Amino acid sequence: MIPFIDLAAQQARLKPRIDAAIQRVLAHGGYVMGPEVRSFEEQLAEFGQAKYALSCGNGTDALALPLMAWEIGPGDAVFCPSFTFAATPEVIPWVGATPVFVDILPDTYNLDPDHLEAAIEAVRAKGELTPRAVIAVDLFGQPADYPRLAEICRRHGLKLIADSAQGFGSTLHGEHPVLWADAATTSFFPAKPLGGYGDGGAVLTDDEALVERMDSLRVHGKMTKSDINGHRWDHDPKYFNARIGMNSRLDTLQAAILIEKLAVFAEEIELRQGAAKRYSAGLKGHVCATPRVIEGGRSVWAQYVIEHHDRDGLAEHLKALGVPTAVYYPVPMHRQAPYACFPIAPGGLPVSEAKSAKVLALPMHAYLTEDVQDHIIEAVRGYNG
Ligand SMILES: Cc1ncc(COP(=O)(O)O)c(C=O)c1O
Repeated sequence: MIPFIDLAAQQARLKPRIDAAIQRVLAHGGYVMGPEVRSFEEQLAEFGQAKYALSCGNGTDALALPLMAWEIGPGDAVFCPSFTFAATPEVIPWVGATPVFVDILPDTYNLDPDHLEAAIEAVRAKGELTPRAVIAVDLFGQPADYPRLAEICRRHGLKLIADSAQGFGSTLHGEHPVLWADAATTSFFPAKPLGGYGDGGAVLTDDEALVERMDSLRVHGKMTKSDINGHRWDHDPKYFNARIGMNSRLDTLQAAILIEKLAVFAEEIELRQGAAKRYSAGLKGHVCATPRVIEGGRSVWAQYVIEHHDRDGLAEHLKALGVPTAVYYPVPMHRQAPYACFPIAPGGLPVSEAKSAKVLALPMHAYLTEDVQDHIIEAVRGYNG
C-alpha cells in the first residue's frame, strides 16, 4: 500500500537534526515550558505574520482558548461550518455557547459569506441568542474568503477565528489569515502539514491583551502581569488563580521537533504545490471535480480532494490497486447525533450534504514521487464506475 501521508520520508530527511534537538532537551531537562517552547513560538509568529504565537496542547484547545478569553458563553451564538472536523463546533458547547451551522461554497468547501450573513440576521431576528463570533475553517489547506468574512464580522461586531488546523501556512494575496482574523489557530497533529510527533497546537494573534489572557488560561488561570499590577500579596502569587483555566501546554520535546520541521516547511509547501498541480493536470476531465483554490489563494494542500459520482466504488477500486484514500467528511456535523439539536442557517445546508457524498482525498504529502503519483492518476483514470 502506498502511504496516504509519508511521515517516514520526511523523518529520513530530518532525522539527524531531530535526534540532536531531542538530545538537547533531554540534556537540559526542561520538559514543560522549556526554552524551545518560547523559541518555537517566536519562529511560528514570524512565519505566520503575527505579532504573537501562543502554543498549547492541541488544535482543539487552540480554538477554545480565544472563546474562553472573550468570555463567550451561555446565550451566545458562534457561527461555523458543518462540513469540518468535529473540533471546530465542539469547543462552542464546551464554553456553554451555541453553534450555528452555516453552509460552504461549492468550489472551495469554505464558509459561504452570504449564508453567514443570512445566519447572523436570522439569529438576531429571533432574539434568543447573542451573535458573538465566527469560526472559519481553512479546509483541506486553503484560506477561507477572509476579506469578506472579516467585513461581515466587523459590521456585526463579531470576533473572527481562523481555524487553520489544516491550513497553517496558506495565504490569500500573500497574507496569512491572521491579517483578517482576531485569532488564527493551528494543530501540530502528526498528519497536519506542520505536524509534530504527538499532539500540539497554537493560537496566533496581533492582540497583546488576548495573548496575556490565553497564557493565563492555558495554565489553570494563573495570574497575569495585569492581574498582579498594583496588588500586594503576602505569598508568591504562583499558586493564585485569577480565572478558571485548563492545562494545555506544548511539550518542550514537541517544540524542539517542530523547530526543525518549521525550518523546511516553506520548501515543503512549495513541493506540495507541484504535487497538486500534477494531480490536477492528470485528473481534470476524468473525475467530477478537481480542487479549485480561491482567487489569490495559496493552499498548503493538507488534502488533495476530488469529487466522484461513485466515490465509494472508486475508493474500493483504488484500495485494490494499493492506493489508500480517505473521506473528509462523510457526515456533516449538523447530521451527527450530539450536534443535531443546534440551529442551522436559513435554507439548510444543501452544499455540505451534497459534498459529503462525493468527496475523496488522495495520498498527499511533500515527498510524493512522480512515479507514485502517476500510478495513482492511472488508477483513478482506469475506474469505469
Ligand atoms: C479543521 C480542524 N480543526 C481543529 C482540529 C483539531 O486539532 P487537534 O487534533 O490538534 O486537536 C483539526 C484536526 O484534526 C482540524 O482538522
